[in-house]
Amino acid sequence: MPKGRVKVGIIGSGFEADIHAASFKIMPDEAEVVAVASPTSGHAEKLAGQYGIPRVFTDYRDMLKEKDLEMVTITAPNALHYQMTVDIANAGKHVVCEKPLCMTLEEADLMIDTCRKQGVLLMYAEELFFTPKYVKAKEMADQGAFGKVYMVKQCEKHFGPHAPWFWDVNQSGGGVLMDMGCHGIAFCHWFLGRPKIKNVFCQMGTYVHSDKTKGEDNSICIVEFENNAVGLIEDSWARRGGMEDRIEVYGEGGVTYADLHMGNALPTYSEYGFGYAVEKAPTTQGWTYPVFEELWNYGFPQEMHHFARCVRAKEAPQATGEDGRLVQEVLYAAYQSAGQGRKVDLPFRPQGVKRPIDLWFHPVT
Ligand SMILES: NC(=O)c1ccc[n+]([C@@H]2O[C@H](COP(=O)([O-])OP(=O)(O)OC[C@H]3O[C@@H](n4cnc5c(N)ncnc54)[C@H](O)[C@@H]3O)[C@@H](O)[C@H]2O)c1
Repeated sequence: MPKGRVKVGIIGSGFEADIHAASFKIMPDEAEVVAVASPTSGHAEKLAGQYGIPRVFTDYRDMLKEKDLEMVTITAPNALHYQMTVDIANAGKHVVCEKPLCMTLEEADLMIDTCRKQGVLLMYAEELFFTPKYVKAKEMADQGAFGKVYMVKQCEKHFGPHAPWFWDVNQSGGGVLMDMGCHGIAFCHWFLGRPKIKNVFCQMGTYVHSDKTKGEDNSICIVEFENNAVGLIEDSWARRGGMEDRIEVYGEGGVTYADLHMGNALPTYSEYGFGYAVEKAPTTQGWTYPVFEELWNYGFPQEMHHFARCVRAKEAPQATGEDGRLVQEVLYAAYQSAGQGRKVDLPFRPQGVKRPIDLWFHPVT
């Protein structure tokens, strides 16, 4: 096994690629980013310049030929995750795949199988497993602070994504449930100790952005677990005022609430505005809530640091392809439920689905 810092390549040079590059810089002792690949060379070069990444590629397959590269992170649109994972694994490199894992359950199976056959790790980039405030809530729950936990709620809301591909269901696979509900599904499952899922009930609609997308821009998803607990997952691309990310935990012996941004924020009034307040905030004038150490508070550096340690076999992956596949199955069930207006039991593995959202448009019978 190679020694020293894990050599990392990033695929993509957009929003999340920037977060990965910055995260490795914040916790640099286990890994270093040595390459970036993105079809728009100007963008890749800009990212490389900003973070001192020495090698730039326009085709990620050329980057995969670099012998010393050990781990590759995928920050490309959802529809590309599957092929990229297979190519990375076949090149003998470990994979970090951004959420959601892929488009279909068949893809999820093949991603997991290929990585297993090639002897590489498939790590699923769900940063909520590393978000310090949420980790604290789970630690307290695991210590018995709330007694038997019967409901966990996660919600994530803003006014819609920054890049056009998110709005195109052919590239994204679905709207806000696919984009952000995947976080809540993974979170509730993980928080409760990964119990079996009984069924899923979901309501969704396109309330504000029907001019832009066929995808849903608001969703409410209820997941019932076998250990007599429920997850409530609320997501929106229709909520004004910047990013909101919150959890609530209810047990027979207690309760806790955590707002990822509030409580880390500085309640601020500015007549003139300033550089940056918080993700997706439309303005910095008037009353705003600028956050500090935003990436740290989300857990991105801790997540990437953990994945690099897994490559060196110092830790076992806390978020894997199996987590991503389960989320995918719940997404299928949620779209089907929204299409049918009733609960859908798991296991739910219809074959031949092309995009999860198709199950909302045309539920399988
Ligand atoms: N964990 C999180 O909280 C989080 C946040 C944002 C995005 N994401 C995920 O990260 C992924 C990327 O989202 P984003 O917001 O960075 O999108 P983005 O549009 O900002 O960036 C996408 C990047 O992919 C690149 N790309 C497109 N086709 C490519 C190809 N064939 N080869 C290599 N690169 C290619 C684009 O050039 C661009 O640089 C998505 O799957 C998204 O769901 C996760």
